Amino acid sequence: MSIDTSQLAEDLIRRVEGAEDLRSLDDIRVEALGKKGRITAEMKQLGQLDAEARKAAGQALNQVKEQVAGAIERRKRDLETAALDAQLAAEAVDVSLPSRPERAGKLHPISQTIDEIVAILGQMGFEVAEGPDIEDDYKNFTALNIPPEHPARQMHDTFYLADEAGGVDMTTVLRTHTSPVQVRTMESREPPIRVIAPGRTYRSDSDMTHTPMFHQVEALVIDKVTHFGHLKGCLQDFCSAYFEVEDVPLRFRPSYFPFTEPSAEVDIGCSRKDGELRIGAGDDWLEILGCGMVHPKVLAMSGIDPDEYQGFAFGMGIERIAMLKYGIPDLRTFFDADLRWLDHYGFAPMEVPTLIRGLS
Ligand code: DAH
Repeated sequence: MSIDTSQLAEDLIRRVEGAEDLRSLDDIRVEALGKKGRITAEMKQLGQLDAEARKAAGQALNQVKEQVAGAIERRKRDLETAALDAQLAAEAVDVSLPSRPERAGKLHPISQTIDEIVAILGQMGFEVAEGPDIEDDYKNFTALNIPPEHPARQMHDTFYLADEAGGVDMTTVLRTHTSPVQVRTMESREPPIRVIAPGRTYRSDSDMTHTPMFHQVEALVIDKVTHFGHLKGCLQDFCSAYFEVEDVPLRFRPSYFPFTEPSAEVDIGCSRKDGELRIGAGDDWLEILGCGMVHPKVLAMSGIDPDEYQGFAFGMGIERIAMLKYGIPDLRTFFDADLRWLDHYGFAPMEVPTLIRGLS
């Protein structure tokens, strides 16, 4: 018998080195070195040789065994390293990435401003009242003495809802102001009434200074003796507290609203020197709200006797006064949902404004 041990070694080592994974490497190990393996089989043949040849062939086979075992060991290590590398690559954590800081979360300036308004007017005895964003045409217009031919009813201002046939449902609107909450309150409560109603309002209007959705706060006071002096005092106190300026100059300009008589628009004193707006000083004026004494017809339509009660009301744009107080230059950015903007202009949550601690 003669065995070509070098051919055997070469063959086995080539197969070992070509093993693609640990499992096939083990199969090759069993095939080469196992009890029924090729080297063992050759070893069994040795007995047929004479002593001299047996010795030489035995040594040669042992050498093959060692070479193959060594090759298996190396291949095993290589395959294990490759498997680990693959796993590490798959589960990689890139420690060179900048860390992502925990977001603390911020309150939107609209929420903050509403909280401040509620804190100030709440101190004066106002309760918060609410009404739906989808309002009926009667409460949004008619009950506020806005007759059908009034421009505010035209389609270009008001969002009407679609009816089931796909046409326009002229009886249902997205409320164009918070004033319908006046009607809801008067219809459902007995005077004396002191409510504020902050909330969303909608108009089909979109440019630098208008967004289709915006916020207002409405105030309504009804009592047996209520006059314009009360309205002025209330607004004076509100503006001083909100803008955190003692005795903010206020200017009442005669105006027209269908639901108040007399009606006024209110400006606050400010200065715009060097392009910087300062509230509460200077010789310039900025309009901030509409107000007036509740029209007797409006009281009567909601079931309140105008001979017995009078009331005052005002309505203010929330974005407007937030922009003024916090120096936010562009209305549209309120609704861009840009976290960087919110990080800059937002407020720490949980710090509810109070008059005692300071509003913000
Ligand atoms: N509803 C008015 C508007 O959106 C604002 C307003 C004016 C509200 C006078 C009032 C008021 O309560 O008395 O333009």
